[in-house]
Amino acid sequence: MKGIVVSKTADCLAELLQEYGSVYVVYDVNVEAFAEAEVIARIPSEKFRAALPLKISEENKTLETVGSICRWLLQGDADRSSFVLAVGGGITTDVVGFAASVYERGIKCAYVPTTLLAQVDAAVGGKTGVNLDSYKNMVGTFTLPQFTLITSKALETLPRKEFLCGAAEVLKSFIIEDGGWYEKAVDFLSRYSRGEASAASEEVTPIVEAAVSVKAGIVERDFREGGERKKLNLGHTFAHAIEHISQQEAAEGKIPAPVPHGEAVAMGMVLAAELSERLGIAEEGLAAKVRADILSCGLPAECPYPVEQLKSAMHHDKKAQGSSVSFVLMSRIGDTPVRKLEIDTL
Ligand SMILES: NC(=O)c1ccc[n+]([C@@H]2O[C@H](COP(=O)([O-])OP(=O)(O)OC[C@H]3O[C@@H](n4cnc5c(N)ncnc54)[C@H](O)[C@@H]3O)[C@@H](O)[C@H]2O)c1
Ligand SMILES: [Zn+2]
Repeated sequence: MKGIVVSKTADCLAELLQEYGSVYVVYDVNVEAFAEAEVIARIPSEKFRAALPLKISEENKTLETVGSICRWLLQGDADRSSFVLAVGGGITTDVVGFAASVYERGIKCAYVPTTLLAQVDAAVGGKTGVNLDSYKNMVGTFTLPQFTLITSKALETLPRKEFLCGAAEVLKSFIIEDGGWYEKAVDFLSRYSRGEASAASEEVTPIVEAAVSVKAGIVERDFREGGERKKLNLGHTFAHAIEHISQQEAAEGKIPAPVPHGEAVAMGMVLAAELSERLGIAEEGLAAKVRADILSCGLPAECPYPVEQLKSAMHHDKKAQGSSVSFVLMSRIGDTPVRKLEIDTL
């Protein structure tokens, strides 16, 4: 990884851009004020070329959107020496990172993530991607950005629900590798969920830094997900199934909106803890602890779907994952062994 810069504001941006050519900014329209005041305003005027506001959603996280970004770069005379800066949440960094990685066979890019989830997860690790039909992140590239600039300033406008989705990934990181951070994160997030601490508080920065370094360390050791990186999928095999079912239910009008990814991950981690206990990998009581912590952080812990329904959704996901499904289990907080299991034995 070239560089993850954690800073209170985006003041250091001009310095970070020093060695690069003309800069094209693509930002999520929902963070326009931040993108203009904190990012674009800090790009030296002789470097800044153009800015493209993007209306993002999982539905338009597609190859078509990648095409429209590439077309915009072409119309703006971007060439191999140009530089793309993505400002937004994980959808923005995934789509823009992908476009940069294929435009003229790859031009340099960097991220300024504006959600907690993107700061600790999507904008760290060098995976880009878009959805293909009903398959999430089915098409993408392994491409490292030149830098990821993480600033707590970006989180000031982040809605509570989105912050909590990122919180689930923070907890995931510390369940994988504790380093003394898990209880600190649960303590902060419990206070946040009770309205006693804010998303842009100084307390968030060290927690974000620690969570980023868990992911960055794993990615450095296993960039292409041959082994250890699989651990980052803790809770995700269940979460993808929950998301898949809830997306279908939302499309049929049965529920107002699909279960957000972070909430599904929270439920998925409780299910992973329960499975670990049943398999005798975790000591009795771990699942109850994980469930209580997740609830105290303001996240949902109970999966709304029966296991049979989850299993058939997992078979759909299996197509994207390959013939066998790896489950990330927990022996305790800070140790998450990976086991290949048959879905039907769940
Ligand atoms: N590449 C990876 O390794 C990786 C890892 C994890 C997740 N992801 C991807 O990330 C995506 C989810 O990321 P996300 O949760 O950041 O989603 P997102 O980009 O959709 O952002 C969530 C919502 O918050 C809004 N928003 C963003 N920043 C804001 C701010 N500062 N203030 C107010 N509103 C703001 C967005 O407009 C959006 O409505 C998924 O598509 C997932 O596949 C990728
Ligand atoms: Zn996730």
